[in-house]
Amino acid sequence: MRFRPWPLAALLVLTLVSLASCSDSNSGSSHTKAQIPVTADLASGRADYEGRCLTCHGVAGNAPAPRNLIGDECILCQGAFEPLEDYIRDFMPQTDPLSCVGACAENTAAYILCEFNPTLTEGCAS
Ligand code: HEC
Repeated sequence: MRFRPWPLAALLVLTLVSLASCSDSNSGSSHTKAQIPVTADLASGRADYEGRCLTCHGVAGNAPAPRNLIGDECILCQGAFEPLEDYIRDFMPQTDPLSCVGACAENTAAYILCEFNPTLTEGCAS
């Protein structure tokens, strides 16, 4: 079969374009930011967080790994909102999963991002 370089060349161009789009930011993190849904309520998120999450994760999300919710330590705080919300909904609080679903999962996810990870986040109500 004849060697066809074009598919490979196209892949290379796409890779370079996506790498470039990840490094044009001047903030600490260069990747896409998590987008807070307009329906999220940060005050409720704080109340839920302090009532249900703080004992394990610390008042500022600063518990030791793997419970740390800040920056690089927080795997699910990187780049997208839904994976964080879904994880909270399905697995947190660790001792009582499925007790913080719906608005609770959305609001606590928004609170964790806006309060502890503002540089990774867009759309926090001012
Ligand atoms: C009983 C202790 C406990 C409570 C309460 C708890 N968590 Fe966790 N959480 C953990 C542990 C331990 C982990 C590490 C992963 C694991 O072992 O399941 C974790 C992991 C996480 C992560 C993933 C961090 C990462 O690196 O991406 C998030 C997000 C999270 N918890 C959010 C919450 C939220 C929101 C609440 C309250 C609704 C909550 N947790 C309540 C113990 C707890």
